[in-house]
Amino acid sequence: MTQQPPPAGPAEPPDGPAPPDLPDRVARVYGELDLSTVPAFAGGFINFGYWTALPGPGDRQLTRADRVRSEEDLYRLVLGTFDLPRGGTALDVGCGRGLGCALALREFGPGTVIGLDAHPDQIARAREANAELLAASADAPGRLEFLLGAAQDIPLPDGCVDCLFSVEAAQHFRDLPGFAREAARVLRPGGRLALTTFFARTRAAARALPALLPPYADGLDVPHVVDEVAGTLAAAGLREVRVRAIGDGVWEPYDRYMAQQPELRDDEWPRRYLTAYETGLLDYYVLTAAAG
Ligand SMILES: C[S@@+](CC[C@H](N)C(=O)[O-])C[C@H]1O[C@@H](n2cnc3c(N)ncnc32)[C@H](O)[C@@H]1O
Repeated sequence: MTQQPPPAGPAEPPDGPAPPDLPDRVARVYGELDLSTVPAFAGGFINFGYWTALPGPGDRQLTRADRVRSEEDLYRLVLGTFDLPRGGTALDVGCGRGLGCALALREFGPGTVIGLDAHPDQIARAREANAELLAASADAPGRLEFLLGAAQDIPLPDGCVDCLFSVEAAQHFRDLPGFAREAARVLRPGGRLALTTFFARTRAAARALPALLPPYADGLDVPHVVDEVAGTLAAAGLREVRVRAIGDGVWEPYDRYMAQQPELRDDEWPRRYLTAYETGLLDYYVLTAAAG
């Protein structure tokens, strides 16, 4: 099994009409290929994980439970940047199966969590995976909702969100200025944004990455440059834009986990992310900002 779907071949057929707001490759990976079922993304999450808070000695064998914990902890890291008001509204942009939304509701206690995703299959999976919580929360104070829509065209009114977060989705966004504009629009004045994913460190790195990592070459990911992402948020009117590199808690332990799993250790190109990090091409980041 591979950690991620194989790079697109030249004759890859389309699988029906793509969701209007997604490029074909992105639509395919979150449609019929269903990336969350690939073994390296355990537990229904789809992110590289943040591995610094795992219990036990740092050099022990990593387990599937650790992998799930790492993915949850990436959400905890992002949500921990907020002082989420009781009764407030939080929005997860690129929510995937919505498990991070459920975690936000369970552990951080906002009034409403809205999971937004541009792929209708992901929204259907999120509703199925969280069916019990959705039913239980329909009229309760802690409410969960899933909404089909794109980061660059968020189907919500102005100023209705207290905290907007996004976990490992922005590497797919073609229209980052559109996302930044929409984030600034839906956040209430004083609302907070936290965005985490991997970005290129420099323009030269962005040019080099497609030769090393097929997702950049086949149209799944865009090698956005981290300082330009920060500049895009500021240009949309967001304030106090801060960038924190967290790669030391992501790439080495992720690669060690891959190396320790017999079915994953021979995944040749996914293991090149560590090379890309160690050679200074990319890193994993948390960007935070305030609205208004
Ligand atoms: C790598 S997955 C991450 C899912 C989830 N945040 C997690 O960590 O488990 C990226 C998600 O972003 C969604 N996505 C990609 N482009 C998007 C866009 N322009 N607007 C909204 N969602 C998008 C995909 O459909 C996919 O579900």
